[in-house]
Amino acid sequence: MRKVIAGNWKMHHGPSAAVDFLSRFRPAVQEGSVRIALFPPALSLASARRAAAAAIEIGAQHIHWERSGAFTGELSAEMAGEVGATLALIGHSERRHLFGETDAEVARKVRAAIRAELTPVVCVGELLEERRAGRLDEVLARQVGTVTEALATASDFMVAYEPVWAIGTGETATPEDATAAHRLVRSALGELGGAPVLYGGSVNPANAGALLFAPDVDGVLVGGASLDPIGFGNIVETGVGG
Ligand code: PGA
Repeated sequence: MRKVIAGNWKMHHGPSAAVDFLSRFRPAVQEGSVRIALFPPALSLASARRAAAAAIEIGAQHIHWERSGAFTGELSAEMAGEVGATLALIGHSERRHLFGETDAEVARKVRAAIRAELTPVVCVGELLEERRAGRLDEVLARQVGTVTEALATASDFMVAYEPVWAIGTGETATPEDATAAHRLVRSALGELGGAPVLYGGSVNPANAGALLFAPDVDGVLVGGASLDPIGFGNIVETGVGG
């Protein structure tokens, strides 16, 4: 399977910074050797799509489950698709924990992404307390379990395992921890377990290789280190080189 190298810019890189990033990142892109996806802020989706090489997929960080309606501040999967998004990040831990997104909402958003023909990239992961309490298995089974019915109707989807304690903290799971968690995700996915499962949480150019090539890891979802085109380019090259 081609490795997936995805970058989540969070609330960074407005439309002009997105174009600047892409002009400097383009040299790292080798058609077809890895699957590259970028998740810019919604306002930068259109300019990122125009500036990106065709081989780079662009996705929304956040969508609402309705097509349209009185939902001030929200955007629909269809609108994201109209400006060139082909993927949608769903259930990122910052959405779950800072904005109170529930498992039920995550499932509705997965259905909305599929309706709009966007590839859902569903994020799951445990809090440190949950890991310490030996609840990793139960948390992943619950988070994955709420979306499997919806995912069964998708022609393409990915799951990103992102332990919450490793996001933006500089602390990463060991490759062994990532492998173990990815196996739990696959078993919760059941017959859908052949889908790519990415690892996310403080991935950087120095640790990307060990994580990317750990058993059962199909790619990485990179936050902070995806903001720098050179560093992110290095992670892409690591994926190509393996
Ligand atoms: P990080 O973020 O790489 O900055 O830890 C990962 C993510 O939130 O997807």
